[in-house]
Amino acid sequence: MVAITQFAPVPSRQRLTTQIVELAADTTAIRSLDWDRDRFDIEFGLRNGTTYNSFLICGDKVALVDTSHRKFEELYLQALTGLINVAEIDYLVVSHTEPDHSALIGDLLNLAPDIVIVGAKIAIQFLENMLHLPFKSLIVKSGDRLDLGQGHELEFVAAPNLHWPDTIFSYDHHTGILYTCDVFGMHYCDDHTYDKNSHLLEEDFRYYYDCLMAPNARSVLAALKRISKLDIKLIATGHGPLLKESISHWLEQYQTWSETKAKTDTFVVFFYCQDYGYSEHLAGAIAHGVNRNGVQVEVVDLQETPPQELREWVETASGLIIGMPPQSCLVAHTALSTILAAAHQKQAIGLFETGGGEDEPIYPLRNKFQGIGLTEAFPPILVKEAPQTAMDQLCDEAGTDMGQWLTRDRTQKNIQAIDLELEKALGRISSGLYLITAKKKRLPVRCWLLGSPKPVVAPSVWRSPLPKTVPSNPLCKSAIILSSTS
Ligand SMILES: [Fe+2]
Ligand SMILES: [Fe+2]
Repeated sequence: MVAITQFAPVPSRQRLTTQIVELAADTTAIRSLDWDRDRFDIEFGLRNGTTYNSFLICGDKVALVDTSHRKFEELYLQALTGLINVAEIDYLVVSHTEPDHSALIGDLLNLAPDIVIVGAKIAIQFLENMLHLPFKSLIVKSGDRLDLGQGHELEFVAAPNLHWPDTIFSYDHHTGILYTCDVFGMHYCDDHTYDKNSHLLEEDFRYYYDCLMAPNARSVLAALKRISKLDIKLIATGHGPLLKESISHWLEQYQTWSETKAKTDTFVVFFYCQDYGYSEHLAGAIAHGVNRNGVQVEVVDLQETPPQELREWVETASGLIIGMPPQSCLVAHTALSTILAAAHQKQAIGLFETGGGEDEPIYPLRNKFQGIGLTEAFPPILVKEAPQTAMDQLCDEAGTDMGQWLTRDRTQKNIQAIDLELEKALGRISSGLYLITAKKKRLPVRCWLLGSPKPVVAPSVWRSPLPKTVPSNPLCKSAIILSSTS
């Protein structure tokens, strides 16, 4: 196997290069190396740049797996057209629609409009909104296969919530390569194509997992289970080095970290039919409210998830939220029976209509859950029209109620943990205006104007209305009174 490194600097303060590497039979990687990127999203600081990896498989049919970041438009298309006439590409597999992997899809379609885009149902929906171009598509789900000829048969594995709902893996039965996009990746940029120096990568691998994957640890475990039967020779990730030298080690790390995280997390499992009614919109608003209390939400499609997996989700969740599926969907009906059979009385339940026009009646289902003894975290949400601001707010509040119910013990403990120091500090308060600062490890982390329910920044304190009550936020544990205006 020959590895060719092609450096093509562009006039930019940031160093951008591409690397083209033959990975296996008929399979080539185009790695876009972003050497100096120091930030990903808002809070994800990078110290070793990153890469965006794309892969070309040339059987009788040609498939491209993912593209690259917009900043690589010229370099990437140069590299790709150096390998193949773009018009000969039959399929573009979209593992995930975030722009660091999909930004150049429009460019490709302009060059070759007959390319069939392969992806999860939700990925295709996202692309319809993103591209504003007509395109051919093929929706795939777990277990579906796509024969490219010459032995290259791709099998798809759904990996929802890692870290977007649209994520799929693709496994080539001929080469043993598993294409995973963001999953098992790391933000690490260097000339080494593979994970040869694994000890140098450990920290970045962990940091990436913690930032992107840990919040959905149970979905990670579900995805690991789905790929456990595959004979994986190479994990072709979308970021950083490709994993070949220490595959079992990296998989074990994901398994161990996710099991640990799953044991301690309180989480809500959110069941719905992804493409029905206003499911996704409403689910997003409810999940936002749940998350506000630090409770994780795992989203599960009633139509896509096998009964055994459904049972496991229900048995381990602290709360269940269900969006009503269409009455005509037999698979979803069976799924609801499975959920009812596995639900138990320590759980909270919340139900919402999804407004698809033929929703399963909500009240009979509610009665069944109440009959089992589950606590209703919020009353059924009825949806009769396209959701507007008021409905979004109602959903958000419903999610907040669920989150608060699930964290009530934790909140109680925090209140009990208010220590003597704080009590003494509060005892010094008489009339007047006070600024209270919460400190953590001797550093001020928040300020309150006494009585103000929201944190305030110091300069505005003196213009705020006079306080009436003492803030009850647990951060006050180490509060001290800094100043008084009286
Ligand atoms: Fe992503
Ligand atoms: Fe990514």
